[in-house]
Amino acid sequence: MTDNVQQIKERLNITDVISGYIRLQKAGVNHRALCPFHNEKTPSFMVSPSRQSWHCFGCGEGGDIFTFVEKIENIEFKDALKILAEKAGIVLQRDDPKLRSEKDHLYEICEKAAQFFTQQLNNPIINYLHNRGLNDETIDEWRLGYAPDSWDLLLLFLKRNGYKENEMERAGLILKGEKYHDRFRNRLIFPIFDANGRAVAFSGRIMNDVVLSKTEYADSGKYINSPETILYSKSRMLYGLDKAKIEIKKKDKAILVEGQMDALLPWQDGVKNIIATSGTALTEDQLIILKRLTNNLILAFDMDEAGFRATKRGVDLAQNSGFNISVLGLAEGKDPADFVKEQPKEFEKIIQSAEPIMAYYFNQILKKFDSKALEGKKFIAITLLSEIKRLPSAMERSHWIRELSLKLGVSENDLEEEMEQIELESFNSAKSIEAPIKQTDVKTRKEILSERLLALLLKTPELINQAAKTISILPPKYFELLSSFSSNQGNFSNVRMALPPHLRPYLDFLFLMADYELEKSGPDFNIGEEVESLMKEIEKEHYKELKQKISQEIKKQENAILISSSGEGFEENEKLTSLSKELQNISEKLNILSKN
Ligand code: CTP
Ligand code: MN
Repeated sequence: MTDNVQQIKERLNITDVISGYIRLQKAGVNHRALCPFHNEKTPSFMVSPSRQSWHCFGCGEGGDIFTFVEKIENIEFKDALKILAEKAGIVLQRDDPKLRSEKDHLYEICEKAAQFFTQQLNNPIINYLHNRGLNDETIDEWRLGYAPDSWDLLLLFLKRNGYKENEMERAGLILKGEKYHDRFRNRLIFPIFDANGRAVAFSGRIMNDVVLSKTEYADSGKYINSPETILYSKSRMLYGLDKAKIEIKKKDKAILVEGQMDALLPWQDGVKNIIATSGTALTEDQLIILKRLTNNLILAFDMDEAGFRATKRGVDLAQNSGFNISVLGLAEGKDPADFVKEQPKEFEKIIQSAEPIMAYYFNQILKKFDSKALEGKKFIAITLLSEIKRLPSAMERSHWIRELSLKLGVSENDLEEEMEQIELESFNSAKSIEAPIKQTDVKTRKEILSERLLALLLKTPELINQAAKTISILPPKYFELLSSFSSNQGNFSNVRMALPPHLRPYLDFLFLMADYELEKSGPDFNIGEEVESLMKEIEKEHYKELKQKISQEIKKQENAILISSSGEGFEENEKLTSLSKELQNISEKLNILSKN
């Protein structure tokens, strides 16, 4: 296993692996990106090709190619190994079937089920699909299928293929009533694929008016979907992402629709950067996934009153995460599937003319309310100002304030004052704009300062001697690193080899941190001065910690004296006297340090 890992690491370049998922920008010797693991607007995700490591200085995640693939694909190490081995052209020894992970097993069952459903496609269903405007190629490519009008045909098929009922149940394919039975019956089946194109769930559209059902089924909802399983979580899933992801990255734009049909028809019509939510509002998880690919979303949702209310929250979340959002102008009540069927080759054009969401809000509100009457003015102002307030960029805010001022004949100043008064809902707070910083291990201020000092010193070995005084008061881990560094004359690979293995990833991290800090600080940054001031701060922190320790010690002594009540006064206690003296000394040192 370790051999494989080593071999793979030698053959693959971390920037190639990571840029397969997110857009990397060159930043000196490293690469930089918006972190795919938390929402952020300024990139703090760094990749170091020379050290084959990555780290996000916003959320604290980091590691090598394996941890990256594990996290981004949401898979276990074993599966990451498989993916990367394949990329590297390395053949792993075959797994013992008994050891195969449960996930693998469920992938297999879902794949078998998808095959079953496509085999069951019959003429009435194919005719239905043709009538909806889909051609055979699309039906094939998206592996559309049919769940027959039966309680157990899938169950029996999977049984014949060696699967157990409890596995089928965990894959979401069968349900337990009086006895186990198929979940999907007499339904058009859309397999739902994960980002790697593996079938993980199914969505079934009612077909009772296409194929007359022998049985009266109670569950006559228009759609039935797989439940949450270990492979499938509705709130993370974006239908079509496996097929659209490359195109989304290339076009730097994603078209979002509400359902399978609305994704399929435009896709067939040539619009390949399209994905669907499953009729639900956009979730934070979906936005994080999308953020890896693009910053630009075009919504082709049903924007009638009810529809809009349902999507508004997701739209707000997306805006807070820094997405540019536009809205597609489809006639009311018309969905993209209808549109494409009626006007082939026109969809791409209306995408080009999609309206920025703010313009869309303006048009909608101004259409509905009277901007001449005072009441109308007030309502328009309040509604639009809360949208404007939400905008992260001051320039945009002032642009739309001006626009509103023109439309209402109210001064920009008055509008700005009004905007001050508006309180946005709590989820618009900074918290959701930048995801909370994850503290893997909580560091003291002294440790944080030491880390920064160390990182900078690694970049400027010539300053190490000057820092010697402070180095002795650094926490042991940092001390060990720096001594090794200076005894190896700053040669990185020698230092690395000399370190005990558990400290090596930490060294990689520090190097990347230094690059990150230097780059962030711009060309005027003076390392020497920064090192000076860090040393001083660390010294202060050191004395503060000491002061606190001694104060506690004094308290303890005083309590001990009170309890023993030996009659001895505080002044006569020797220990106490020397502690007080020490405290005084330290306070003086701190005073001096704070003065200059
Ligand atoms: N949906 C669902 N459960 C429902 C209704 C809808 O999961 N009871 C999801 C499906 O993924 C569906 C999407 O919401 O594709 C959009 O629903 P809807 O607009 O009603 O369906 P369409 O995709 O328009 O289907 P059709 O055009 O065949 O009516
Ligand atoms: Mn529809």
